[in-house]
Amino acid sequence: MLPDICKKFWNESFINPFDKTDRQKGVKPPPFELPFDEDNLIELPNPKNLEFENFNLTDFIENRRTVRNYSKNPLSLDELSFLLWATQGLTKKLSDERSLRTVPSAGARHAFETLLLVNNVENLNNGLYRYVVSKHKLLPLNFEKQDIENLIAAFRNINLVINAAVTFLWVCAPERMCWAFGARGYRYILLDAGHVCQNLYLAAEAIDCGCCAIGAFDDEEMNLVLKLADKNFFLPYAATIGKKC
Ligand SMILES: Cc1cc2nc3c(=O)[nH]c(=O)nc-3n(C[C@H](O)[C@H](O)[C@H](O)COP(=O)(O)O)c2cc1C
Repeated sequence: MLPDICKKFWNESFINPFDKTDRQKGVKPPPFELPFDEDNLIELPNPKNLEFENFNLTDFIENRRTVRNYSKNPLSLDELSFLLWATQGLTKKLSDERSLRTVPSAGARHAFETLLLVNNVENLNNGLYRYVVSKHKLLPLNFEKQDIENLIAAFRNINLVINAAVTFLWVCAPERMCWAFGARGYRYILLDAGHVCQNLYLAAEAIDCGCCAIGAFDDEEMNLVLKLADKNFFLPYAATIGKKC
């Protein structure tokens, strides 16, 4: 079942999947990320700062497991920076509307904005942040304590999120994908989400962190607390991260 917000978007914009797409109609594409206030950005370390001993991708792939219990040890800012880079890092800006990143995306449309619920990261206050891809920086989002509590309560496994060092929330701006592909864009969004989360799993493995993909949450509550509906956004996927016990 599509969340209501998708149905609304679908009904209003894509009644016939064989209609011309906005791209075919010559409509200007949406920008590849949301606007941000440059003055409020928080620096992240260079994602390539981390040094890996005995780096072996075969081991990471073979040992990868979903991990739902985490130690109380915090994630370092270097590690968080690395995980953000591995999941959405910019490798080439093609234009204001199109980018190449560390993960593939249909038509290089990259329809996700990464939100982070930070709970146990060194030198970073707990709270909600947005990853600004073009700058590789964090934008603090002004979320009150009650909003954060409502956000956590929207997950089916609340303890998983409470005990994680950080929770990644991949909010989707469907217009970026659907501009190029019309209704078929929804299929590509879900496929893209898989690529992003798989990179998170493998990158986590490389820094002795555990990862748990999360599809079990209340869509309506998420729409409400993250104020997604009025922007035609939705949340398809999330994942927790924490140091292994
Ligand atoms: C699309 C998707 C959604 C998932 N949602 C949840 C979830 O909401 N909660 C959870 O605890 N695990 C979730 N998982 C993790 C799976 O339960 C886990 O991948 C599965 O048990 C296989 O274990 P493995 O990842 O260690 O191979 C999800 C995995 C995927 C791929």
